[in-house]
Amino acid sequence: ASVPDLRAALLAWFDASGRALPWRLGPEGQRDPYRVWVAEILLQQTQVARGLHYYARFLTAFPTVQALADAPLEDVLKAWEGCGYYARARNLHRAATLVAQQGFPTTYGGWLALPGVGPYTAAAVSSLACGEARAVNDGNVRRVLARLYGEARPTDAWIQARADALLAPQRPGAWNEAVMDLGATVCTPRAPRCPECPLAAHCAARAGGTPTAFPAPKVR
Ligand code: ADE
Repeated sequence: ASVPDLRAALLAWFDASGRALPWRLGPEGQRDPYRVWVAEILLQQTQVARGLHYYARFLTAFPTVQALADAPLEDVLKAWEGCGYYARARNLHRAATLVAQQGFPTTYGGWLALPGVGPYTAAAVSSLACGEARAVNDGNVRRVLARLYGEARPTDAWIQARADALLAPQRPGAWNEAVMDLGATVCTPRAPRCPECPLAAHCAARAGGTPTAFPAPKVR
């Protein structure tokens, strides 16, 4: 299939079947950077289903970046309880004080410079909140692309190259969330729902009959 066909198929599925998540408010590519940033930090080590409750609690405690910057660190750590990896909460607080002075970053590089923001988070937030064409690379993306192309042992460089090539330039944030949602709800690790998949007709792993063989388990 051509890349434009693939993009159109997945984006149409996302528009119809993507998840309604609390940081997906507002215009595409211009989501509230604070809401997106907090979500991506939280979701680094917490699954969406588990994270929703903590997310709501954190945003109630600190509805804006100014509120977060103004809060004592101990209140922030308290609001983070249950999420684990408290370094994330410390970095959020530190970054909030910078953002309160300088404003939110507007580019991938600007986000990457904030404490606690690595390449994954910078790509996610800059695509979702700033409309920047940056492809995310996480476990869901890895699985979806490994299956789509029938690559049993994808390297990080391979995944990034494929993700960059597929990224829909007009809708980078939607594209990233579409791949994440597909991996989380359809192209799942053990029991993928291939009959529901908008990419089934293009998928090499499905054509070979063993989608769950991709990617191969990591050898330790
Ligand atoms: N996991 C991490 N970031 C996500 C997002 N923006 N949407 C869905 N799942 C995610």
